[in-house]
Amino acid sequence: MDAPSVEVWAMAAGEGNVYLGPAALATFCATIAQRDHRVFVLTDQNTHQDCLPILSKYLTIDAQVCIPAGESHKNLESLAQVWEAFSQAHLTRGDLLINLGGGVVCDLGGFAASTYKRGIRFVHMPTTVLAMADAAIGGKTGIDFMGYKNQIGSFQQPMAVVVHTAFLETLPARELRSGYAEVLKHLLISDAAGWMAATDAVPEDWDAIVAKAIGIKLHFTESDPHEKGMRKALNFGHTVGHALESYFLTHDHVAPILHGEAVAAGMVCEAWLCCQRGLLTADAYTQIQNRLMGIFPKLTFPKSDIAAIARWCLQDKKNNAGQIKAALLDGIGGYRLDITLTLPDIEASLLHYFATPF
Ligand SMILES: NC(=O)c1ccc[n+]([C@@H]2O[C@H](COP(=O)([O-])OP(=O)(O)OC[C@H]3O[C@@H](n4cnc5c(N)ncnc54)[C@H](O)[C@@H]3O)[C@@H](O)[C@H]2O)c1
Repeated sequence: MDAPSVEVWAMAAGEGNVYLGPAALATFCATIAQRDHRVFVLTDQNTHQDCLPILSKYLTIDAQVCIPAGESHKNLESLAQVWEAFSQAHLTRGDLLINLGGGVVCDLGGFAASTYKRGIRFVHMPTTVLAMADAAIGGKTGIDFMGYKNQIGSFQQPMAVVVHTAFLETLPARELRSGYAEVLKHLLISDAAGWMAATDAVPEDWDAIVAKAIGIKLHFTESDPHEKGMRKALNFGHTVGHALESYFLTHDHVAPILHGEAVAAGMVCEAWLCCQRGLLTADAYTQIQNRLMGIFPKLTFPKSDIAAIARWCLQDKKNNAGQIKAALLDGIGGYRLDITLTLPDIEASLLHYFATPF
């Protein structure tokens, strides 16, 4: 039998590596076990139960903190809980934080580490598809604030990212599907052949698809770490997607949705806008719509809330000089940056989504 393999991909110079493959966790833990620092682990309730016992087999953990699970806890309160736990454990700049969880734990933990004592080192150990393929890569950290997604945050690269897909064995099916949305987005903006070859159903074997997604994300983030140019393409679907996510997070009369579900709906809306502007053919748009709406359940919201949803776009971080700016597709596999959208454009796309019979 072949020995379990580990693939190491270098991130930008001096900023650590992405460790991938069946032996990645063991290899990385063996490396840091030899160093002279303490290890502090951040989890949420679910990863504390399902993933921490696995990590504990490989590593001695000196201190830990567990935050409540879910996007609604990616907030100042959880952040304060983590800073407090760091202080109580007398964490110093020489110590190491491991973020063991999905995108919420990685984003919040990365921000906590980048601000505590002006910055301590941290490692992401992503445990969801979404975090493996996207959130853990590229150095964006942050929390939601006043209902706005990722309103407070920083760019700070982790010391390393350790991708152990066996963590996915306990991840609920709905969460696996949510992560697939970001994988499909990566393909749509950069890899037409990969998009055509992707399945219309949620994959069962994640190793190859996660590796491909990480490669695409690294390509964009290494070329443009602070999102001045091409990295903005990764936001395709997120202008409308974040507006939907914020709206669902802050309104009790609609059922909560997951990040990937919001992004999938956002991609349908924004692909429709591409089609209106001649950036996608009608056939290409229909193919995107059918695949995304076939995989992700249609979001339900009252038609009378469409204007309110669109207004969340006014706070989007990509906006400039009061104008809504989006990254759109330029054919499948291509992108255009800084496209100005108006509130009526966004509303029209949401109305189209609302009226689509899926
Ligand atoms: N920083 C970035 O570049 C970037 C990119 C994309 C998304 N994000 C952010 O990522 C977040 C979404 O991430 P997510 O979808 O991973 O959500 P999440 O972190 O909330 O995890 C989803 C759910 O799965 C549970 N879970 C995680 N791993 C598990 C496991 N192995 N077994 C059982 N349960 C497990 C969690 O407790 C949670 O309930 C959003 O806040 C989004 O803004 C960040």
